[in-house]
Amino acid sequence: MFKDADETILDEISAWKNLPAKHQPQYPDADFLQTTVEYLRTLPPLIFAGEADSLKCQIAQASRGEAFVLQGGDCAESFADATADRIRAKIRTILQMAVVLTYSGSLPVVKIGRMAGQYAKPRSYPMETRDGVDLPSYMGDAVNGHEFTEAMRIPDPHRLVEAYQHSAATLNLIRAFTNGGFADIAKVHEWNKGFSSNPAYRRYNKLASEIDRAMQFMKAAGAYSESLRTVDFYSSHEALLLDYEDAMTRIDSRTGQPYNTGAHFLWIGERTRDADGAHVEMLSHVKNPIGVKLGPSVTKDDILALIDKLNPEGEEGRLTLITRLGAQRVEELLPNIIETVRQDGRPVTWMSDPMHGNTISVGKFKTRRLDDVLDEVRGFFQVHRELGTVPGGLHIELTGDDVTEVLGGSEEIVEEALGDRYETLVDPRLNHQQSLELAFLVSEILSEDFSA
Ligand code: PEP
Ligand code: CO
Repeated sequence: MFKDADETILDEISAWKNLPAKHQPQYPDADFLQTTVEYLRTLPPLIFAGEADSLKCQIAQASRGEAFVLQGGDCAESFADATADRIRAKIRTILQMAVVLTYSGSLPVVKIGRMAGQYAKPRSYPMETRDGVDLPSYMGDAVNGHEFTEAMRIPDPHRLVEAYQHSAATLNLIRAFTNGGFADIAKVHEWNKGFSSNPAYRRYNKLASEIDRAMQFMKAAGAYSESLRTVDFYSSHEALLLDYEDAMTRIDSRTGQPYNTGAHFLWIGERTRDADGAHVEMLSHVKNPIGVKLGPSVTKDDILALIDKLNPEGEEGRLTLITRLGAQRVEELLPNIIETVRQDGRPVTWMSDPMHGNTISVGKFKTRRLDDVLDEVRGFFQVHRELGTVPGGLHIELTGDDVTEVLGGSEEIVEEALGDRYETLVDPRLNHQQSLELAFLVSEILSEDFSA
């Protein structure tokens, strides 16, 4: 269990308060924020230190090529969509992708949702103007409401408590689904029920039949294990709101070490990754496995300063670098990034986020082309293969529903169709079928790597 932080550790952790903090909401009432944060501090942890440690071990395996990490979920979760159906659809999509990858790549897949806490977003502009009216930009449901009214857009500290409650309920459902029979590999066919005939689904059903046969063989041979009935499924979100993350940081009574108990894995975004800034300082103190996004502007000095600060001892599994360079530039930029880390020598796990470097605008919609996403993934594997380093995982924005937010795919979502079912509050997500197509592409690349 976790106890209250002792004075010295608490002082160290609060060092972030003296550093520049980008992308923080401007709350009108500082006292209300303070009482809310003190209240959050009294609420139970959402995850346990031992779980974060297990995830760290599995991410370390991925850094050595013994596992592959699949991290996926919404750009921004919303309170309204924290329903059983939507959560189940997202889990199912990630489980299906994981089955495809495990079966073809013969590698264990470490499953992490961008779920149960992904409620805060950094925005390019702090203010939004419509018809001559200026209001704060939407920063995620943990900060303000999406609706363009003053009442909704003014940051409200009480939303931090709601974010905690929705995270707790979501994580509870994730735990129930993944340990209560839904994730049973014997259900591999059922996960695709209701989805009709298109190439990705036909291919999935074929693979599911092969898995069924393999399972029957294992049962007959007495090699069936109960462990095939459950999966580990971890939570993650961008550690953006420093007051919230601070309140969720607790001391593990077993080891005396601080952990962020709001999620198993936390990452620092491209916009807040300054090595001298508050976000990096905050996560430098917790023992969870953590990630940092790296965009095209990252320099050698940035990377070295981040490793110095976030993984000075070179612990395996501690630091994941999530590159998001864009399909056009990945092959030009990734080699130098990898070379810098290789010369430094301390271990990292490499992940590709093929979403955020490939965002475009079409009319009033923010979108991405599935082909660009696939190209960045191919480039990521290609560069690692050439340099002899290990591509450890993928970070994807997806949903389990049939939305029309990303262009392309075998169902060919065209520009005119974007408006049909465009539901995201921030960035466009792969729909269920596009997610499976991506998984099949990666499975082909992984199996090539294995037969090589
Ligand atoms: C995100 O992951 O939603 C995000 C904002 O990404 P990045 O920090 O890479 O821009
Ligand atoms: Co996003």
